[in-house]
Amino acid sequence: MHWPPEFGKVYMMLQDGFSRRFHYLRLSVTEACNFRCTYCLPDGYRPDGRKSFLTVDEIRRVATTFAELGVKKIRLTGGEPSMRRDLPAIIETVANISGIDNVAMTTNGYRLKDRAQQWFDAGLRSLNVSIDSLDPRQFQLITGENKLAEILAGLDAAQQAGVRKIKVNTVLLKNLNDHELSQFLFWLKNQPIQLRLIELMQTGEMDARFQKHHQSGLPVKARLLREGWIQQSRDLTDGPAEVFSHPDYQGQIGLIMPYSKDFCANCNRLRVSSVGKLHLCLFGEEGVPLRDLLQVDEQNSELQSRILQGLTHKRETHFLHEGNSGVTPHLASIGG
Ligand code: 5AD
Ligand code: SF4
Repeated sequence: MHWPPEFGKVYMMLQDGFSRRFHYLRLSVTEACNFRCTYCLPDGYRPDGRKSFLTVDEIRRVATTFAELGVKKIRLTGGEPSMRRDLPAIIETVANISGIDNVAMTTNGYRLKDRAQQWFDAGLRSLNVSIDSLDPRQFQLITGENKLAEILAGLDAAQQAGVRKIKVNTVLLKNLNDHELSQFLFWLKNQPIQLRLIELMQTGEMDARFQKHHQSGLPVKARLLREGWIQQSRDLTDGPAEVFSHPDYQGQIGLIMPYSKDFCANCNRLRVSSVGKLHLCLFGEEGVPLRDLLQVDEQNSELQSRILQGLTHKRETHFLHEGNSGVTPHLASIGG
């Protein structure tokens, strides 16, 4: 080995001051959404006339630069990504970037039934679909839409189309879906899907609803362990979910408990918002503006420097425990 090492790409990795490495980028492509989830956009999305979301070229430039810095997986988020008419072009563009081996997306499933094949053909390989209740009435109460059956059909369509990694996101909500755990577990018996149960996180616009609906994931964990679910050992690249399997079930459970100790220690993600700001954490800062460096391909090395510089400011943990949710009004604003 040569010493000193050459200053090359290999050494310019995304790593923060706490030895966390980042191979995973969540890229929001829009803030718009057609659902009105009680904990996110209860009054629906209100367009802000001044905002324009990243173009396909800007997305290509930001994704290319992150790939050069070692990112392997990109998840498209929102808002609801399918609100963008050019979504297939976005998927294809990101999937064709050298170094990116997994393009994932989080969706409310609204257009999944009709679009799954098109998205798969464009290069989508992993999908997270938000389903907060398996009871159509509760589903409508939580999301404002009577679409459960269609979304479940969308899950089938995605499996048919060839998407192998499918997860379902369910936010744990006291008085809204906490009585449904048995039903969800029953559903997982024959579904090769990971159900991710997510603790409700407080955001800026949430007020009293947080206290009313927040439910800890710990009692769920205790029940799973009592009923023979086995906690899987964690890979360094796994991110913050605690994953459980059971010999009698095809599906798995992933518990996401941001309010539990050491949650942030496994943080492996960075976020870029739909207006091109780098967010080091869901909670707590304004974001580092990148968009001015996404205008021509030649800005690439300047963009790398700004990203690496920004990362030195990533803090060790969020401050949710102190009731401090930073400046995030709701998760649709920076991509959940
Ligand atoms: N707390 C927890 N999860 C949330 N999501 C949106 N807002 C919140 C919140 N305040 C979830 C959505 C979706 C994913 C993108 O983030 O339900 O599954
Ligand atoms: Fe839309 Fe997702 Fe927010 Fe629900 S949680 S309103 S689906 S962005």
